[in-house]
Amino acid sequence: MAPGLAAGKLDLAAGRHGAPQQAQLLGAQRGPAAAPPRKINCAKVKCIALTFDDGPVSGTDKLLKILAKRHVRATFFLVGQNAKAHPDLVRKELAAGHEVGNHSYTHADLTRLSSAGIKSEITKTQTAIRKASGFTPHLLRPPYGSTNSRVAAVTKRLGMPQIIWAVDPLDWRDRNSATVERRVIKAARPGYIVLMHDIHPTTVNAVPTILSRLAAKGYVFVTVSELFGRPLKPGKTYAHR
Ligand code: NI
Repeated sequence: MAPGLAAGKLDLAAGRHGAPQQAQLLGAQRGPAAAPPRKINCAKVKCIALTFDDGPVSGTDKLLKILAKRHVRATFFLVGQNAKAHPDLVRKELAAGHEVGNHSYTHADLTRLSSAGIKSEITKTQTAIRKASGFTPHLLRPPYGSTNSRVAAVTKRLGMPQIIWAVDPLDWRDRNSATVERRVIKAARPGYIVLMHDIHPTTVNAVPTILSRLAAKGYVFVTVSELFGRPLKPGKTYAHR
């Protein structure tokens, strides 16, 4: 994307982090680029948390524009190697007020790894996101939602709750926007976490209708941290409020 298209706030962040290494270190020392969670009482408000996995990829930029146009915040669970490849998009997600979480480094099924292997997948991703943005994620989404007691023990030690989902439109399998729209809208309930993938253009193209239809039903779109509004327990698995 052309740097000239970036918003003012974003330009600053991109300039700072895009500069030589010393400036990157300074940026990191200034602390997280993430916006603080808004105070939304999801016990009373009809909240829903849209989450987008496996990016960032070039198509993520289109999704960010869709979300920005409607002033919607979401949560992105990043694959570490993609964060390393697209640090500009990591910064852009955070600058727009979205939450960024960890989705392993290589999209590994963590239940098939040793404790050391699980730890490596997670910490390499934390490093990639921190190097890109100065922000270190608090949340883990295990790839495939695949977890076990060993994954729970490692994530507990690393201080990260495991965030899965309550709505899965199978958008990775059925690459059809109308199908994805229908499934998400039908299954949505207050307090739910919705799984989608910004790596699929069919999913990105489904988002405007999902936002319009759910907003018409009174839903407010929040990040995962906003949905819970309280600290989550490291190692524990959460699918909804
Ligand atoms: Ni995934």
